[in-house]
Amino acid sequence: MNTAATATTATTATTAAAATTAAAAGRSYPRTIDCNGTAVHIDVLRAGDEAALLAFAQALPAHDLLFTYRDISQPRVIKAWIREAVERQRMPSLLARLGGDVIGCTSLIHDDFSWSPHVGELRVVVGAEARGLGLGRQLIQESFAQALALGLEKLVAQMTTDQRSAIAMFESMGFRAEALLAGHVRDREGGKHDVVMLSHNVAEVAARLSAYGVGE
Ligand SMILES: CC(C)(COP(=O)(O)OP(=O)(O)OC[C@H]1O[C@@H](n2cnc3c(N)ncnc32)[C@H](O)[C@@H]1OP(=O)(O)O)[C@@H](O)C(=O)NCCC(=O)NCCS
Repeated sequence: MNTAATATTATTATTAAAATTAAAAGRSYPRTIDCNGTAVHIDVLRAGDEAALLAFAQALPAHDLLFTYRDISQPRVIKAWIREAVERQRMPSLLARLGGDVIGCTSLIHDDFSWSPHVGELRVVVGAEARGLGLGRQLIQESFAQALALGLEKLVAQMTTDQRSAIAMFESMGFRAEALLAGHVRDREGGKHDVVMLSHNVAEVAARLSAYGVGE
């Protein structure tokens, strides 16, 4: 196959993959959401988003990255993320953009071949200048809908214990502290930080929605 044909095939596959992810979530992407009067563009992560996502991650304070398992300000980590989310369809991820710039993102990590195929880990981060507009809450709701569509039964989210606003937000959405991992992450200067793991029983929500006839 020539280069142009390969590129066309790759683009078609990427578009189809994005559509599949959106369909699986039961919501359509791309779409625009209202964040306190600001129109924010939400879409599934695509192959062409690598540079914008890396620029976003590199502009975040390093401390805000400690909740991610790997350092997303590293180009190779972003590449691996895109491979998992776009090519392998194993990590539903969303990007929020304002005027073309990425201002927030989510990802839902789950592994059908692990001993916890029913569990998903939700990750969300919003850029410092876009916080307090309600974007974080809406991104979690989107990710939550993706988890429901995938049939996940339990969601977890982890963050350093000093991320008070993140903990307050997750708790207001029904997550509860389940574990405290002492000195679990190490920052670039070598300082260790405690991590709290919050969890949510998604299956219970799905059962409640079904009892009310929602989503049938
Ligand atoms: C957590 C995070 C995504 C929230 O993003 P955001 O866009 O600012 O959140 P929202 O504007 O939707 O606010 C969500 C709620 O938190 C509340 N909140 C915001 N800042 C707060 C603070 N400092 N203290 C207490 N509550 C706070 C808001 O009042 C809002 O509640 P409301 O909807 O009832 O008014 C963002 O702070 C972040 O990226 N933090 C660093 C990364 C992180 O720790 N992520 C979590 C790991 S999964």
